[in-house]
Amino acid sequence: MLNRNTFLMLKKLFLSPRFGFTLLSLRVIELFNTFYAKFHYKPLFKPKQIVFRITEQCFLKCKMCGQRGQRGRFTLKQREEMNISLSLIYKLAKEMSKWSYKPLIKFTGGEPLVLSTDIIDLIGYLKKKGFVVRLSTNGVMLKSKNLADKLVKTGIDVIGFSIDGDKQIHNKIRGTDYAFDASMDGISNIEESKKRMKKKVPLIMITTTLSTLNESQIQKVVDIGIKKRVDWVNFQFFNFTNDKLAEKSHKIVKKLYNINEAPWRCFSNESMAKVDINKLYNTIKKVNKMKLKFPVTFLSIGKLSKSNIKSYFYNINNPLINRMCFEPFSSAFIVPPGKVAFCIDYPFYFCDNLKHTTLEKSWFGEKANNFRKHFVRYYKKNGKNFPHCQRCNWRFNY
Ligand SMILES: C[S@@+](CC[C@H](N)C(=O)[O-])C[C@H]1O[C@@H](n2cnc3c(N)ncnc32)[C@H](O)[C@@H]1O
Ligand code: SF4
Repeated sequence: MLNRNTFLMLKKLFLSPRFGFTLLSLRVIELFNTFYAKFHYKPLFKPKQIVFRITEQCFLKCKMCGQRGQRGRFTLKQREEMNISLSLIYKLAKEMSKWSYKPLIKFTGGEPLVLSTDIIDLIGYLKKKGFVVRLSTNGVMLKSKNLADKLVKTGIDVIGFSIDGDKQIHNKIRGTDYAFDASMDGISNIEESKKRMKKKVPLIMITTTLSTLNESQIQKVVDIGIKKRVDWVNFQFFNFTNDKLAEKSHKIVKKLYNINEAPWRCFSNESMAKVDINKLYNTIKKVNKMKLKFPVTFLSIGKLSKSNIKSYFYNINNPLINRMCFEPFSSAFIVPPGKVAFCIDYPFYFCDNLKHTTLEKSWFGEKANNFRKHFVRYYKKNGKNFPHCQRCNWRFNY
């Protein structure tokens, strides 16, 4: 029997059947790929999902953010220069539109909408070519009705708005006094444009990252979802590591790949994980009992046991996912200025710059397979993914 949340998820995916189908087939292929990769150390298919960290630029400074937060990775000056060139993405779109299967395209950042109408034109182009497209945004720039209209007109499939709580908490986390009101206007503008244009898409999703900064805000975010009549509310748990695991990983990648980069250090922030388990569990239970018109997911599942939640926040050595991560065999992550990586949050191993080659060549190339070989061997030997991966919940980001 389907529970209510699963039923609502399917109902929403039905509104955007192409997104639903692409997501479902991605999940099936991911499972198949991991099985195949364990024996062959390489992917069988071209990537089924392409994630662009299209820019490192962002005008907010959210406390928990690995790019911009308390331990953020880049200085303001560095970030100004860190975009993927749009001509490179157009070139890649032409390459991918000849593939037999069109991968799911996701845009994240930094804040993708700092690129304004340039990224909207790009999304329009990708939609015309038949791709399914999802955008993650803080929503602030969609305060402009004009921009919101243009975005809806492209036919984009899903927009994920990051909302951390009520006005006071959201603004405190996002480091400004204007973010909440602007993002709320942004959601309303998208909703109004959809209505005016009589469109079922984009699905409007609220994504909330839970940490000590907003552990009391679950009900408030759900209430915002009700008020704004969104399609989905997804709670992510804060992705973090600690200094010990960060250094352990650093030594491993140095030994395996002779690489000094350790971007996971920016996520070493255990103090933000000291949440009150009883309170969190009771609120989740309460929300699960509500008869809502949209799905509310926690790490993509409706129900989480108290011990699962406790383990997530207080026992970082206990992996969130026991099986081998399948991203290096299913998804390509492209980061500025156009480098192919294997993880969006922790890009440390780069295959090629797409300026000089095609994605297909890079994906099946020697450098990519060298990464995968050591990655699989490490998993087989240790029964775990790399130490910095223990709290990665990218998998639950729709
Ligand atoms: C890095 S942001 C980029 C897109 C856009 N600027 C935004 O805020 O949505 C992508 C998502 O990651 C979330 N996020 C930030 N720091 C995180 C962390 N440490 N763990 C999990 N998610 C995090 C943000 O709240 C947002 O929903
Ligand atoms: S808006 Fe997004 S990219 Fe910018 S600081 Fe916040 S989470 Fe990070």
